[in-house]
Parts: sequence; C-alpha cells; structure tokens
Amino acid sequence: MNAVLGVSGSIAAYRAADLARELMRAGFTVRVCLTDAAQEFVSVALFEALTGQPCLIDTFDEPERGRMAHIDWARAADVVVVAPATANTLNRLAAGVGDDMLTTLCLASTRPLVLAPAMNPQMYLHEATQASLALLEERGAVIVEPLEGDVACGESGQGKLASIPEIVAAVLETVSVSTVLKGKKVVITSGPTREPIDDVRYITNRSSGKMGSALARAALRLGADVTVVAGPQTARFPSGVSVLRVETAQEMHDLALTAAKGADYIVGAAAVADYHVANRTSGKLRRTAENLELVLSPNPDIIAALAAANPGATVIGFAAEPTSDLSVAQAKLKRKGLFAIAANDVSQAGQGFDTDTNKLDLVFADGRSVSSEMMSKNQCARWFWDQILKES
Ligand code: C5P
Repeated sequence: MNAVLGVSGSIAAYRAADLARELMRAGFTVRVCLTDAAQEFVSVALFEALTGQPCLIDTFDEPERGRMAHIDWARAADVVVVAPATANTLNRLAAGVGDDMLTTLCLASTRPLVLAPAMNPQMYLHEATQASLALLEERGAVIVEPLEGDVACGESGQGKLASIPEIVAAVLETVSVSTVLKGKKVVITSGPTREPIDDVRYITNRSSGKMGSALARAALRLGADVTVVAGPQTARFPSGVSVLRVETAQEMHDLALTAAKGADYIVGAAAVADYHVANRTSGKLRRTAENLELVLSPNPDIIAALAAANPGATVIGFAAEPTSDLSVAQAKLKRKGLFAIAANDVSQAGQGFDTDTNKLDLVFADGRSVSSEMMSKNQCARWFWDQILKES
C-alpha cells in the first residue's frame, strides 16, 4: 500500500521521521511531500534516506520527465496523511487552495485524508482553524486530535502532535474497511442536556460530548449505520454519522426512543441532566432582592427507557463516578436493565468530563469487568467496541 506523508512547518516536523518509519513498518511505501516551511525544520535528505523514495517539494518538480508528479502521486496513494498539519496548511486545505505541492496533491486526491494538527494552542483554538477542521471532517477527513500539554513556544494547552501509534492506528483504520458492524444499526446519546430556567438561562453540565463523538467515529469505521442523538455539545462528528440535535432531556428521550427502533446497539454516553426546572418562566426572570426558588423535577431515565423498549438490542450505559469502586456502576447496570456499563472514575485527572483522555472499566451484567489503559477518547472508543463485540 502507498501512503503520501505531507509534512508542514511545525516544530513537530521532526516527529514525522518516526511516523514515516512506523508507516513503513506497517507495510506502506511512504512518499514524503514537504512544504517550504517544513524544510526550515527538517530536510529532504532525511526523508529520502529514510523512505528510499524521492521527496516532492515543488509543484513543478517532475522526477519523471513529462509526468505530473502531483497527479501521479495522488493517484497512486491509498491514503494521504498530513502530520504535522499546521493551521496554515489546514486552512489552505479547507479553502481548496493549491499553492504548493502538498495542497495541490491533496486537491488532486480522491483518497482518504488523515490530518494530525500540531500548533500553538491559540492557533488551534482560533475560529478559522476550528472552522477549517469542522469543514474538513465534514468532507470526510479523519482528524487525529492534538494533545494537551506544554508546547514548544512555552504555552500550555491543546496543540501537541498526537502520539505516533495513535496516528498510525488512525491511518490503518482509515485504509482497512472493516465490516464487523456492517448492516448493524448503532444509536448513541451524546453530550450534555440543557434544562431552561427561563428563555435565556439554563442548567447544564461539563460534558463536551467527546466520548460520544469518539464512539460514533469508531462504530462508523467498523461499518455500522450510526445515529447520534446529541445535546448541545462542542465535539464534532465525522461525516457519515447521522446527528439529531436536541436540547433538553425530554427531547433527547423522545427522539432517542424513535431513533432507536430496530437498533442492534444502543449506547448512552450522554450526561443527561437528572432534573428539569418545573417552574420554568417564559421571557427573562428579573433580579429582585428576594430569594429565587427553582423547583427541580426528575427527568426520565433515557437509557433505562431505551433498554425497556428495545429488548433485542445490546444496550450499554456510561457511569461517571467519583470513585474506583465498581459496585455503584454495577447497581446502575441492574437498575437500568443494561447489557454492560462503562464506568470511569472522574475523581482522577485525565478521565471523564471535557478531557481528551479516558480510562474505562467495562462492567457486564454477570459481574465480570475489564479495564482499559488511560488513552485518548478515540482509542478508548475503539477498545470499547472491541470488548462489546467480543461479548455480545
Ligand atoms: O444514573 P446515572 O446518570 O449515573 O447513569 C448514567 C447512565 O445513564 C449514562 O449512560 C447516561 O447516559 C444514562 N442516563 C440517561 N438518562 C438519565 C440519566 C442518565 O440515559 N436521565
């Protein structure tokens, strides 16, 4: 198999050398395309020596006279990987600009595109970069999210290139068309819910919806037909997933029950608000000197209702607990009538709400449990489906 590895001008460009080697170990012939900025950090000689292939740097380079290399390379590639992908390169790709060899080659390619961003955290958070990532993902690109941590410019935040094994795993999954969930219908609830107090205020929680998005992405790559009923979450979904947007728990309940008819797998990854405001006001509540009392009434238990209504489906819940004691999760599983429950100890750093990493303990109805390592939510989601497929 052939991979084109595009390297753009981030300090993480040196790590593309390891990536090239690992892709070769995984069986790819790797051809590297460097942007001008990448050459400020790494050299053509390095990649040519590593890969045994010529590097492409200039759109008008023709290693074979009379053949347009960007078209030839785009045709021959089974996958195009851009790692590290800078803000500039991502924004050019999103806009369809073809002003250098790498962007021209990407324009000419019909093959899967895997993008591993690496940049300063502010550049990553910039609206332009986020809009480009959303657009590229919508068009089918696979984004290997950067990690949180200290970056070379001395700041801290999300922007470090993902680990090399994570990028290689994403590439392998992208090129291998798995069919284990082909023809299977998967329905996932994801994100927080919002419970209005009045027309401008609401009660919500810290859920980002990242785990729900990761579960949907992983199921999609296994060939499933995936529907997500999503609260107002920030995490993006890949194209190919059908997303039904809701706001309140009641809306999520109603839509999920309809969407889940005939489902083979139902996963409750949403952080559903346990209560809604019974004395909700229309318009805008005015401030007074008096105490304001909100009356909170319980919301329906969505995953329990889904399990009751779909006895033929494998139904799995999530349980965010401030403890590593799995008995609480086990009791929830029984109460809700689930096949399994994925517990995560939210008292530990790097697990649970609004983090990029997670560690799951999957507890089954018969009391057995299996534990994952601490890994990215995408890796966790792949591990989750592996375990569920083994057991169901
Ligand atoms: O009871 P608890 O909220 O801890 O249970 C968590 C699991 O139940 C998750 O899978 C969550 O999506 C689901 N849940 C639900 N509806 C609720 C509360 C939780 O579907 N009202």
